Amino acid sequence: MRIPLIAGNWKMYKTVGEATTLVRDLLAGLGELSDREAIVCPPFTALAAVAALVADSPLGLGAQNLYPEAQGAFTGEVSPPMLVDIGCRYVIIGHSERRQYFGESDAFVNRKLRAALAHGLRPIVCVGESKPQRDAGQAEPIVTAQVRAALLEVPPAQMANVVIAYEPIWAIGTGDTATPADAQAMHAAIRATLAELYGAEIAATVRIQYGGSVKPDNIDELMAQPDIDGALVGGASLQAASFLRIIHYQ
Ligand code: PGA
Repeated sequence: MRIPLIAGNWKMYKTVGEATTLVRDLLAGLGELSDREAIVCPPFTALAAVAALVADSPLGLGAQNLYPEAQGAFTGEVSPPMLVDIGCRYVIIGHSERRQYFGESDAFVNRKLRAALAHGLRPIVCVGESKPQRDAGQAEPIVTAQVRAALLEVPPAQMANVVIAYEPIWAIGTGDTATPADAQAMHAAIRATLAELYGAEIAATVRIQYGGSVKPDNIDELMAQPDIDGALVGGASLQAASFLRIIHYQ
């Protein structure tokens, strides 16, 4: 009932030319996607070129960030209607790199998430604990508190459009992925939090992705877990062969 979502987070990689090459290679190897969804999230500068390539294809498009106002004097920022206009269906919100390097608070993440929903974008909201927090046994309370804060004032009717990405910070870009069992345990805790907030029925419809060093050699095991509904993939999404293998998980 939850259609798994595999998303490529390109971060600050790929010129327009490089993006075009990668997407052409992805489309050539993608085939039909009947039981799963796949999207790429290029940098803003490559969105237009990629949108033109993926139109009428099974590959979807997302952005990596937005500013939570429709328009205005916010130099350097990009609004939700601009993302919709260019063909984005999804937007990553509150990635740990944004929280860490750009000071994004839980409150700002919540504002962005609600702005995305208000304009018909599907937010992929990222949560995750640091290594010291995990070592201190605090991972679960910290992550579930992030989930609650991100979803403040989000009505139940909007929850079908929300995707949560559990990304332990210590697993991002390190090659040090969470074990499938540890990831599953956190995903179950997140779903239990959703059930407290919205009831079990709605909680069962929300997709929860895992992210953090997802690779061709660990995707199958991760996707076999009952509460893992997809992956948010950084490094391994930058090459067609590895991202295609991840999309085609078994
Ligand atoms: P990674 O990044 O796959 O390179 O660990 C994941 C992410 O930051 O979304």
